[in-house]
Amino acid sequence: MTARVAVLASGGGSNLQAILEYFDALGPRAGASVALVASDRPSAGALDRARARAIPAVHLDAERRGDTMAEVLEAHGVHVVALAGYLRFVPPAVTRRWLGKIVNVHPALLPAFAGAGMYGLRVHQAVIDAGVRVTGVTVHFVDEEYDRGPIIAQWPVPVLPVDTAESLARRVLATEHALYPPALHAVATGAVTLGTDGRVVGVSDALPDCTRFALSHSDAAPRVAELFPGSHTV
Ligand code: GRF
Repeated sequence: MTARVAVLASGGGSNLQAILEYFDALGPRAGASVALVASDRPSAGALDRARARAIPAVHLDAERRGDTMAEVLEAHGVHVVALAGYLRFVPPAVTRRWLGKIVNVHPALLPAFAGAGMYGLRVHQAVIDAGVRVTGVTVHFVDEEYDRGPIIAQWPVPVLPVDTAESLARRVLATEHALYPPALHAVATGAVTLGTDGRVVGVSDALPDCTRFALSHSDAAPRVAELFPGSHTV
């Protein structure tokens, strides 16, 4: 069975694009495909990217992003929901119905720098203001609380002294594009699941994560420029 994935986005859809290209590269063996793109914003670039590929693109107006969102997703036969820069609250009817099959990408290392209002450049400015030296990307299962839910994968991103929120956002977004598609694919194909005890099951070597990164890049500092080309410039 090919898992039908819905991507919900409020913005330009660069994460959607990364997911589409990742599934394309896997070819017929992907076992997952984007079957629907939905946005709370009728002018969202993500909807244009869907239309360019003849993927159903739905504007979730106030009514359809509420209690009827589940019906919209069901009507498109959606098995997995991927939030990709979706800035609205997801109704409990959806998080409950797709529990263990609804995921999100957050541009920081949860549980840090999370919660209401922590999105876009605000996250990166908070990271810089806090003086932390490492931020990163988190892919996690979605539950009924904002930016919470069991963590599936994380990848660290260095914060450079010269960074602005904008330069850091660019580096983190590039890491999202690398981490989210494989993590989503693992959930869509069942390689990674949410156990009944709320723990993540099956995070395999196929999924880059903080531990693997730390172990395999213990000399990461000298290799930052190699790992993140252009990171020395802003
Ligand atoms: C970005 O800020 C990203 O960090 C977050 O969602 C926003 C929109 O990204 N995950 P895009 O629409 O996928 O380009």
